[in-house]
Amino acid sequence: MVVDARLTLSAAADEPFEDLHAAYVAGYRGYYVHVDLPLESFRAELVMEDVDLTASAVARLDDEIVGVALLAIRGLRGRIAGIGVAPQHRGRRVGETLMHRLLDEARARGVQWLWLEVLTQNEPAIRLYQKLGFRRIRRLLVLSRPADTPRPARPGVRVVELPPERVWPCFDSFHNVRPCWQRERVSLEGRMRDLKARAITIGPEIIAELLFVRHQSQLRQFDLASDPKFDRRALGKTLLQALHYEFPLVEGVVVNVPEDDPMLPALYDVDYV
Ligand SMILES: CC(C)(COP(=O)(O)OP(=O)(O)OC[C@H]1O[C@@H](n2cnc3c(N)ncnc32)[C@H](O)[C@@H]1OP(=O)(O)O)[C@@H](O)C(=O)NCCC(=O)NCCS
Repeated sequence: MVVDARLTLSAAADEPFEDLHAAYVAGYRGYYVHVDLPLESFRAELVMEDVDLTASAVARLDDEIVGVALLAIRGLRGRIAGIGVAPQHRGRRVGETLMHRLLDEARARGVQWLWLEVLTQNEPAIRLYQKLGFRRIRRLLVLSRPADTPRPARPGVRVVELPPERVWPCFDSFHNVRPCWQRERVSLEGRMRDLKARAITIGPEIIAELLFVRHQSQLRQFDLASDPKFDRRALGKTLLQALHYEFPLVEGVVVNVPEDDPMLPALYDVDYV
């Protein structure tokens, strides 16, 4: 198969933002989960995730944008933050051409490691990434706790509410397993206005923390971690029990938990599946 000679690429930064947003939504049409971020949320996500629009690209056939690929950069590390080709243009090398462009842009900016996440069932995307040399390094889990799960007992240990910025000084020492890009500290700092924190403390010292956002009828967890000196599973379970005791009948959701995250057993303990 050859690339359509009419296909042209340009920097995403050169597009009107509304067009970029519309093309992104169109590129994810028919995706496994519904992707329809409102314009302002899309803009905020790009900022929080350090997407560099000068390094990101759109593909055009004639005058129409038919695909978008977003590259985020943090120092020497980069992430493919999204790629989508409008359904009627898939299978014609648009995605591959866009990916080559991002690889070139990443190299030109000195990026040495490039990450991405892909749903295990997304065979077309996995094949594309493998073809370009990406290797699987770990599995990330998406878990939820249905709203009608029985309310847990109130934990015996006191859980306190804190401003989220109190968590930052202990964040790195609590994470020996690297969180996914969207839940690295720098991403979370960008979400600070919405984040709520709960913690277990000994005197002034935080020994475990939970960061979450109450979003309509969902509790979205953004971080759950503890001092590795303590029983992490027990601390995590206590924080989660306290959260679901405080907010009964609300669905709990957590996205992209690494398979070797020490808090994973605690999530299972409180009925995340
Ligand atoms: C994934 C996606 C970007 C691929 O773009 P595309 O333009 O359709 O793909 P291309 O025509 O450039 O194909 C390049 C390679 O991808 C793989 N591929 C693409 N479509 C495929 C399919 N339906 N089945 C299996 N492999 C496929 C193949 O390896 C192909 O190379 P090959 O034909 O030499 O084997 C596109 O399917 C898409 O937009 N999907 C919806 C959004 C999405 O899933 N984004 C990725 C999120 S991680």
